Amino acid sequence: MVTGASRGIGLALVRELASRGCHVLAGARHPSEARGLQAAACEAKPGVIDIVALDVRSDESVRGAVEEAAGKVRALDALVNNAGVFPEEGDERLEDLPLELFEEAFSVNVVGVARVTRAFLPLLGAAAHPRVVNISSLAGSISRKEDARHYCYSASKAALNMLTRTMAAELRPRGITVVAVTPGWVRTEMGGPQAPLTVEESARSLGRTIERISPQDAGHFFDRDGSTASVAW
Ligand SMILES: NC(=O)c1ccc[n+]([C@@H]2O[C@H](COP(=O)([O-])OP(=O)(O)OC[C@H]3O[C@@H](n4cnc5c(N)ncnc54)[C@H](OP(=O)(O)O)[C@@H]3O)[C@@H](O)[C@H]2O)c1
Repeated sequence: MVTGASRGIGLALVRELASRGCHVLAGARHPSEARGLQAAACEAKPGVIDIVALDVRSDESVRGAVEEAAGKVRALDALVNNAGVFPEEGDERLEDLPLELFEEAFSVNVVGVARVTRAFLPLLGAAAHPRVVNISSLAGSISRKEDARHYCYSASKAALNMLTRTMAAELRPRGITVVAVTPGWVRTEMGGPQAPLTVEESARSLGRTIERISPQDAGHFFDRDGSTASVAW
């Protein structure tokens, strides 16, 4: 299951995982508007990509998505919490920053991940080697933070990293491996046109890394290639 699969990295990851032979549940909050995702589902063999309505901010929507998923699969091998928002311009000063932007960032990037992950635990628990992959960001690295930008987004991704560690500790004894992964700086609506990576390049690396995650990786923060050397909490 990939959340935020309507566009950007999520959509590319759906295509990548499908090309690797996975059955992919693609979560999108407005499936009828997700043209790229619909095209991907049509191009794939029938039953390879299933589009599921999923708004990570809504209990009702997440409950519906779990029910739909349970009607299609017996177990979930991987949950990729990819849906994310970057609600600010980025260069606001503390005095000018609308504080509700913190709520927007946290409601999707942190609370949404907790909501979706706990709802999918029964399906994850039914898999042989289940994993939860939280798509984080270098912007969430506290030790690397030197600039005065991106208050809300950075704070939310740092919180996501802590959520990752906490969930990893709770879920490891249940056999569910939880990690955080950064996708790199990618040309999407969020990443902007200057980013060096295409969505396909990022998704190719992420797909390989997701497949390789094993129980000893629980609670780690990886780059898209599965290395911990270039990322820091
Ligand atoms: N691009 C980068 O350089 C970069 C770098 C580091 C980390 N990341 C992370 O990578 C992930 C994907 O980013 P992206 O660049 O692909 O962003 P994007 O192009 O802006 O796409 C964001 C995705 O999240 C979905 N989303 C937003 N709110 C949602 C909600 N409430 N429920 C369900 N889905 C929701 C969007 O759906 P709608 O189409 O419905 O809006 C869209 O599919 C994010 O977690 C982001 O923080 C990106």
